[in-house]
Amino acid sequence: MGGYNVAILGATGMVGLEMLRTVKKRGFPAASLKLLASSRTAGKVLSFEGTEYPVALADPAAFAGIDIVLSSAGEAVSRELAPEAVRRGAVVVDNTAEFRMDPDVPLVIPEINAHACRGHHGIIANPNCSTAIVLMALAPLRDVATIRRVVVSTYQSVSGAGKEAVDELDRQTEASFHGEVVPPGVFKKPIAFNVIPAIGSFREDGYTSEEVKMTFESRKILELPELAVSCTCVRVPVRIGHSAAVNVEFDRPVSPQEVRERLARSQGIRVVDDPATHLYPLPVDAAGEDDVLVGRIRSDLSHPCGLNLWVAGDNLLKGAALNAVQIAECMVKDGLVARSKVS
Ligand SMILES: NC(=O)c1ccc[n+]([C@@H]2O[C@H](COP(=O)([O-])OP(=O)(O)OC[C@H]3O[C@@H](n4cnc5c(N)ncnc54)[C@H](OP(=O)(O)O)[C@@H]3O)[C@@H](O)[C@H]2O)c1
Repeated sequence: MGGYNVAILGATGMVGLEMLRTVKKRGFPAASLKLLASSRTAGKVLSFEGTEYPVALADPAAFAGIDIVLSSAGEAVSRELAPEAVRRGAVVVDNTAEFRMDPDVPLVIPEINAHACRGHHGIIANPNCSTAIVLMALAPLRDVATIRRVVVSTYQSVSGAGKEAVDELDRQTEASFHGEVVPPGVFKKPIAFNVIPAIGSFREDGYTSEEVKMTFESRKILELPELAVSCTCVRVPVRIGHSAAVNVEFDRPVSPQEVRERLARSQGIRVVDDPATHLYPLPVDAAGEDDVLVGRIRSDLSHPCGLNLWVAGDNLLKGAALNAVQIAECMVKDGLVARSKVS
């Protein structure tokens, strides 16, 4: 049976586990699956859907004979290990921010710019989770009218910050029921019963690193280098599912119905938009779903060419693992993986 030797780097993390689930669920042609993590978990066995997978130490030698690496172990790990994997003949789909803005690295959402994969030199980057979710709703609207400006406010779940962040929300929430306090660890402020308007690090201009990702990654993926994007990123006490309020300014007045119809025809999008029956996208409904949900589609009453949307998507799926596996599928389909071993 043919297939590719696949490694998941960061396999024990929030995204890595979803990568494993997605590879299995979509029937990705994996001849073998190697799970890699740090020395904290290397040597342990991960049990998944009745199969036991040994977790190996992520070091350069681990990539010998690997064709495709799905990488999600943080920027520093990608910086060190992605080039080592490429040197050993693998292609790396990297989920961290490390290579996204490198001009030699395609940054891809397959529904939008799958063609960019063809220019790869071994590494293909997966976008930031909020950027991927927002662009799924935004990209089809380029067919409706020219987009002049986008203003985004995100409402990002704690799983976007990894498994320890989810534990922190759970522990703080539970402690509060007993009148106790669990001090912040992963986050700089308490996250239970709170919202934190700061994700990533602050820059001199007052924006955060997360906010500028939305601007620069959107421009690269949409191939609109001048696109005006303004973004505020906020962490909310939701376990899984990022939401965003998106204001779009077009070059002409656009009706909500035109937008609804265009989005209804878009792959990977589900329009959930019937305010009369309280149908609108919720992160709890988006969690576990491949599709990005879009609703609250309405004219911007303050601007003749403006439109407002509300978007929700699973940050671990379309925001990370699903998009990465879809990239790998494109690479396979277009013959862009140098298969080193076919059994
Ligand atoms: N979570 C999201 O929604 C999301 C979305 C898009 C992008 N990302 C990016 O994806 C990456 C992982 O995110 P996550 O949420 O999955 O984090 P996580 O839950 O904290 O998992 C981190 C993973 O990386 C592994 N790891 C850490 N240090 C390592 C090292 N030195 N060598 C090898 N493996 C190491 C961990 O292994 P151990 O179990 O051994 O510690 C674990 O498997 C981050 O760069 C993040 O920014 C996350």
